[in-house]
Amino acid sequence: DWTMAAFKDQAIAKIRQQVGKGKVICGLSGGVDSSVVAALIHEAIGDQLTCVYVDHGLMRLGESEQVVSVFRDRFNINLVHKDASDLFLGRLAGMTDPEQKRKTIGGLFIDVFEEEAKRIGGADFLAQGTLYPDVIESVSFIGGPSVTIKSHHNVGGLPERMNMKLVEPLRELFKDEVRELGRELGLPDEMVGRHPFPGPGLAIRIPGQEITRDKLEILKKADAIYLEEIRNAGLYDAIWQAFTVLLPVRTVGVMGDSRSYDYACALRAVTSTDGMTADFYPFDMAFLGRVANRIINECKGINRVTYDVTSKPPGTIEWE
Ligand code: XMP
Repeated sequence: DWTMAAFKDQAIAKIRQQVGKGKVICGLSGGVDSSVVAALIHEAIGDQLTCVYVDHGLMRLGESEQVVSVFRDRFNINLVHKDASDLFLGRLAGMTDPEQKRKTIGGLFIDVFEEEAKRIGGADFLAQGTLYPDVIESVSFIGGPSVTIKSHHNVGGLPERMNMKLVEPLRELFKDEVRELGRELGLPDEMVGRHPFPGPGLAIRIPGQEITRDKLEILKKADAIYLEEIRNAGLYDAIWQAFTVLLPVRTVGVMGDSRSYDYACALRAVTSTDGMTADFYPFDMAFLGRVANRIINECKGINRVTYDVTSKPPGTIEWE
């Protein structure tokens, strides 16, 4: 009978056979898939693997530090942590259009990754966290709908451009199986169970307005409070994705004896099985009130909190 431990052993044997004495490079994003790929390949070939974490400065609070501490310190994986936030934020300055943001971030990401790969002397193989649904989707999309709602960035053209072969050890797995494999490999629970996070990161959670370091700081703090309350209430695993959106509107409020004029934010939480359709999560009002109070009290810059009750369709999960 089929167990994840057996799958792991087979996958490791396959990786060793494919790679031989070659060098492998893996782009880490902090997400479940790339984390599991990195841990698995490291178990198979150790120091023949180098991971590159391109830090665009648009991650959630504390997440970059966690990636580095888990992979470099705990797993002892060769890890390049490239802080490219100045480059990304510089290029995004003044930009407000969602598609332009996505294309800019996706393009820069590939440039920085390629540069770091060259710096370590290149590699023979590129590791990718392609899952079974991705394999099916790319086939079924041939001749499929040509309407792009949002251009999801990926590293599609990279292997050819860099003349590398692909290592894709998760190609036969579904998401829940990837999580199980991650646990089998000893990855921390909060990494294995993490909600999906978009490649362009917090850039698309500051919609319709210019992205600045100040706004990112405010958003990160509000988002961390929201997620902490969700975890404390034991709701994290029942929710597909939850996050805060910093809105491009300032509203009037009262703070003590004086008038405030600060940003409004929206809380989003949805249930879903694949991200294609989604329902808003039916929190109770007391929970929402508690989160709103904490955000307004603890996040300088926000004085109003709303809850998004839009399902997908007609809405999308992200706001842009
Ligand atoms: P939407 O907003 O289209 O999101 O309902 C569906 C899922 O995709 C994620 N998402 C992205 N992921 N690059 C990504 O890697 C992107 O540009 C992007 N846009 C949305 C979103 O977080 C949700 O899980």
